Amino acid sequence: MRLGVCYYPEHWPEAMWKDDAERMKSLGIEQVRIAEFAWSRMEPSPGEYDWGWLDRAIDTLGNAGLKVVMCTPTATPPKWLIDRHPDILPVGADGRPRAFGSRRHYDFSSPSYYEASKKICEAVASRYGQHPAVAFWQTDNEYGCHQTVVSYSPAAVKRFREWLKARYGSINALNIAWGTVFWSMEYRSFDEIDAPIGTVTEAHPSHRLDYRRFASDEVQRYNRMQVDIIRAHSPGRPIAHNFMQLFTEFDHYKVAADLDVASWDSYPIGALEEQWYAPEIKQRFLRTGHPDFASFNHDVYRGMSKLPFWVMEQQPGPVNWAHWNPAPLPGMVRLWSWEAFAHGAGCVSYFRWRQAPFAQEQMHAGLNTPDNRLDIGGGEAAQVAEEIRAVLAADPHANDAVKTPVALVFDYEAKWLFEVHPQGADFHYPRFAVEYYSALRSLGFDVDIVPVHAPLDGYQLIVVPPLPVVPDDFAARLAQSGAQVILGPRSGSKTADLQIPANLPPGSLASVMPVRVWRVESLRPNLQEPVTFAAQADGHWPRQGYSRHWRDLLDLDAAADDAAALEVRASFADGHPAYVKHGAMHYLASLFDDASTAALFADVAREAGLEPSLLGDAVRVSRRGGLTWVFNYGPQTYTLAADIPDDALVFGSREIEAQGVAAYRTAAH
Ligand code: GAL
Repeated sequence: MRLGVCYYPEHWPEAMWKDDAERMKSLGIEQVRIAEFAWSRMEPSPGEYDWGWLDRAIDTLGNAGLKVVMCTPTATPPKWLIDRHPDILPVGADGRPRAFGSRRHYDFSSPSYYEASKKICEAVASRYGQHPAVAFWQTDNEYGCHQTVVSYSPAAVKRFREWLKARYGSINALNIAWGTVFWSMEYRSFDEIDAPIGTVTEAHPSHRLDYRRFASDEVQRYNRMQVDIIRAHSPGRPIAHNFMQLFTEFDHYKVAADLDVASWDSYPIGALEEQWYAPEIKQRFLRTGHPDFASFNHDVYRGMSKLPFWVMEQQPGPVNWAHWNPAPLPGMVRLWSWEAFAHGAGCVSYFRWRQAPFAQEQMHAGLNTPDNRLDIGGGEAAQVAEEIRAVLAADPHANDAVKTPVALVFDYEAKWLFEVHPQGADFHYPRFAVEYYSALRSLGFDVDIVPVHAPLDGYQLIVVPPLPVVPDDFAARLAQSGAQVILGPRSGSKTADLQIPANLPPGSLASVMPVRVWRVESLRPNLQEPVTFAAQADGHWPRQGYSRHWRDLLDLDAAADDAAALEVRASFADGHPAYVKHGAMHYLASLFDDASTAALFADVAREAGLEPSLLGDAVRVSRRGGLTWVFNYGPQTYTLAADIPDDALVFGSREIEAQGVAAYRTAAH
C-alpha cells in the first residue's frame, strides 16, 4: 500500500521542481506519474527531440527518493504530426473528422498514427527504460476517453473488412450469420462492406455489433504494440494503463491481459453526477459519491490485474468536467483512499499535485492550490500516508488477498449488444450490473467481478446480470460450480451473431433452466409492474415488490425430465412467473425494485450457506488480510455491532463518524 501523485513538470517553472519533489516526499508520497501529455515538449518539431528538461525532471524526482511512473505521450499527438498526417484524426458517426485542439484526437486504425506511435514509444522507452528512477510505465492515457474507441475512417473500414474476413472466412458465411437477406442487404464480397453509419434507418445490428468488436480489438492491438516496445527496453518494470470508471467501450479483460497492472481513474463525485442515478440519490450522496461506485470499479480492475491494481488518478477535490462539480466532504479523500486499499489496491495516486491555473482543467482541484498551498485533499493524503505506515507496522499482511465466495459476471460485449439492439431505450447494462453489485454489497459481501470465461469453481453464489450471449460451456460450468446462481433477464437471449436462439431464450441455458421465453416486453421508465413474491418458510420475502424496464414471459418446460423441480417464486400481476428456481439456478424475468432485489439475493445467499448482514445504503464493509474495514458514507455516526470485541478494533473507533473509517480483526469476530 503506497501513495502516488500525478505531476506535470512541464506546467511549472523548473525552479519549483525540487521543492515540489521534496514536499511530495515529506507528505508520504512514493511514486509520481509523469509525461503522459508531454509529446510537444519531447519532440517540438518532427524528429527533433528535447530530452534535457525531462532528464532533469526525472533526476529531481529520483533524487528526492521518488519512484517515477513514466508514460508514453500518445494521448496527445502534436499539431505538426496532425498537419503532416491528417488521417490520424478519428472520424465520428457523422462521417466528419474530429479536430485538433484538445486530446485523444487519433484513430486506433490509422497506419500513420501506428507508425508515429511506435517511433515516439521507442524514443521514450529507449531513453528512460533503464533509468534508475523509472520504476513503472503507463501506456497512453485513458484509452477511449471522449468517445474515441470507435472511428469510421477509411482506414478503420479497411481494417474492419480484414477483421470480418478473418472472423467469417467467406462472404456467404457472413451473409448467413448476419441474416443479410433481410431487406436485400446481401454482400458479394467483404470489400462491399462499409461502416455502419449514415443509413436511412437503423443499420444492421449484427454489422454494428461486429464493428464494436472490431474497434475493441483495435485498442488491444494498439496497446500491445506499446507494451512490446516498453518491455524490450525496460524489462522487469511493470506496465500499467489507466482505465476509466465504468468504461465499457472496449474489452478491458483483453487489454489488461497484456499489462502487469490494471489501474483506473477514480472520480466518485463526477461519476455520480454523470451516471443514471435518480435525483434523490444524487442529492443524498452529492459530496461523497455513491458507496458502491468506486468499489465496483476496484473489483473490476482487481480481477483483471496481474499485480495488485492501482488507482492511478484519485479525485482530490472538485473536478471540472461534470455538469455540476461539488466539493467532496472533508474526510472523503481519505475514505476513498482506504476503500481502495481495502479492495486490494497497491497504490492510490492523486490527480494532480497542483491545480493548473490555465487551460481546460484550471477549475480542477489538486492536492495543492494553484498558489502552492496544501488543499484539504493534500492534508488527507498526508494523513493516509501516516496511517498506512501504522497499519503495515502492526500487520505486514494487512493488505493480503482474501477469498470471497461471491462472484458477479461482468461482460463488455453485453453492453455493446444491448446498446446496438436495446428494445427498451433505457436497458443500460452497466447500470444493471452495478445495481446487482450494490445489492450484494448492501448485504455485506465482498465480490469478485469475473469475465464469462473465468473458472467458477469455489464460489458459493454467482450473480449474472443480463448476459445476452453465453458461451456454449457456460451452463455446464455454472452447474458444475455447485454455487447458487442468479441469472438476470435476457440471459442467453441471443447467439453470438445477434440472432434469436433456435430454442428461444435462454438458449443454451435451457439445459439448466428449462424455461422458454416466448415473448418479451420493455417498459417505459415510469412503469412499475407489481410483483408478488411467494412467502418463504423463513419469512424473508417481501410480499410485494415491482418490476421495471423489462419482462420476459416464460413458459415452464413441462417436457423437461425434472419439470417438477421448477419452482415459481414470484409472479407478475397477470400471473406470469417473475422469478423461477430450478435446482441451484434462479432466473429473474425482470429487474426488480432495490429492496426486492436485495431481499431476494439475501435469501439465495442463505441457500448458498452464506450469512448476509443488513448494512443499508450508506455503510459498507470490505475484507482484506485479516481485517474487516468499515466505511461510513452516511451523514450519521455508525456504531459497530456489539459482538465485535473492543480489542479486535485496530483502526478508528467503534463509533464511526460520518465519512469515517474503521477496521477490526476479522478472525476475532
Ligand atoms: C482523467 C484524465 C486526466 C484528467 C482528469 C480530470 O480522465 O486521465 O488527464 O483529465 O480526468 O478529472
